[in-house]
Amino acid sequence: MDWGMKNRMTRLIKPKTMRAVWLAIDHGYFLGPVSKLEEPATTIKDLVEFTDALMLTRGVLRNCISADLDVPVILRVSGGNSIAGPALSNEGIQTSMEDAMRLNASAVAISIYVGTEHEHQTLMALGQLVNEGQRCGMPVLAVTAVGKELEKRDARYLSLSCRIASELGAQVVKTYYCEGFEKVVRSCPVPLVIAGGPKLNTELDALKLAHTAIKEGAKGVDMGRNIWQSRNAVGVIKAIRKIVHDGASVKEAENILKAARPHK
Ligand code: R5P
Repeated sequence: MDWGMKNRMTRLIKPKTMRAVWLAIDHGYFLGPVSKLEEPATTIKDLVEFTDALMLTRGVLRNCISADLDVPVILRVSGGNSIAGPALSNEGIQTSMEDAMRLNASAVAISIYVGTEHEHQTLMALGQLVNEGQRCGMPVLAVTAVGKELEKRDARYLSLSCRIASELGAQVVKTYYCEGFEKVVRSCPVPLVIAGGPKLNTELDALKLAHTAIKEGAKGVDMGRNIWQSRNAVGVIKAIRKIVHDGASVKEAENILKAARPHK
């Protein structure tokens, strides 16, 4: 691995623990103004100090984020679909590597849709992005997207998607936690981080999700809604940090969550 690529990876996955807590706020690229993400700058204001990287689009970065941001950026470069359109899987690369470099990104992110009608175009786009990433020393994060079909999140499907993403050259893969997650980890030769998915019933459920995923081999989380849609978002991210970087138990993390609870 060349120095630039290594340096970027080191900024994303902390060498001390070899783990990562990333905050995802890229949802608007196909979902529009998601609840609690209407004003991204406000959403992240108190959370940035607890994250190792911020995942977002160039539009939000340029228009909503101050240039003195002291956190690495994972730039979502795929898009071209929307929740109102006919097929969420119909994504392509819409932000160039040149722009990612100009924005001082530490990685670029792209979704792949294995098993859909657009499988081929999204996998070819991943390959193209990896080629450009190799030229520029830019790591590629592949996101194993399932669109509206959340029920696809099982070990068989996610193992297939994650392995394909790594075979095509992604340096990091973002996927979902599932029953049998160890199988997904074992068969994917690059680091895996997990998304949180739609908001769970309680904050404690989010902590349990992070804890189990880390115990079963995830290198970290790249979570969004389960953090910033919480009324205690700071508590959730602090508690997740403790799990990911310090190996805290769910109970220890819950204590952090409770201590940070905002006063009414
Ligand atoms: C997809 O919408 C995005 O890549 C999100 O960044 C990803 O799903 C993680 O966010 P969440 O934890 O809200 O699922």
